[in-house]
Amino acid sequence: MAIEKTLILIKPDGIKRRLTGLAIDRLENAGFELVGAKAVSVTEELARKHYDALKDKPFFENLIKYIRGEFHGISKNRLIALVYRGENAIKGVRAVVGATNPEDAAPGTIRGSFGRISSKGQFENVVHASGDAQDAVREVALWFKPEEIIE
Ligand code: TYD
Repeated sequence: MAIEKTLILIKPDGIKRRLTGLAIDRLENAGFELVGAKAVSVTEELARKHYDALKDKPFFENLIKYIRGEFHGISKNRLIALVYRGENAIKGVRAVVGATNPEDAAPGTIRGSFGRISSKGQFENVVHASGDAQDAVREVALWFKPEEIIE
């Protein structure tokens, strides 16, 4: 079993609907260790780097607006970034978070319980969680300085 670190973001819909505590509670109860946490003002540049792999998708420009809080009236483009560590944390956290499309996410997962598809067709799925080991390493390094994570 590999000890992994993975990036979680409480997205603007999660911030607006006051789901930060609930997400942390579920991840903590699943046995993962919180080793990094901060509020971040998401710049255009950070948003575009984070979702670089999706830049050719038709939903990309709205995704950038969404993650920067522009659909939820979040002041200062604020969201919460977390790093969790644990055995197989990447897959394990994704299991707690649920599938990308809120309509496909299993009941009881964070996205299955609280995600929605907006009238514009945007998936508003409450949290981001790194998808695989390569993404996790890249995303943790993009959002956190090494000294902000407890090793
Ligand atoms: P993706 O990286 O495929 O999923 P995940 O967040 O589960 O790793 O997509 C990034 C985000 O883009 C996703 O959380 C919500 C949004 N999105 C849409 O709005 N519509 C779509 O059809 C897809 C695939 C994603």
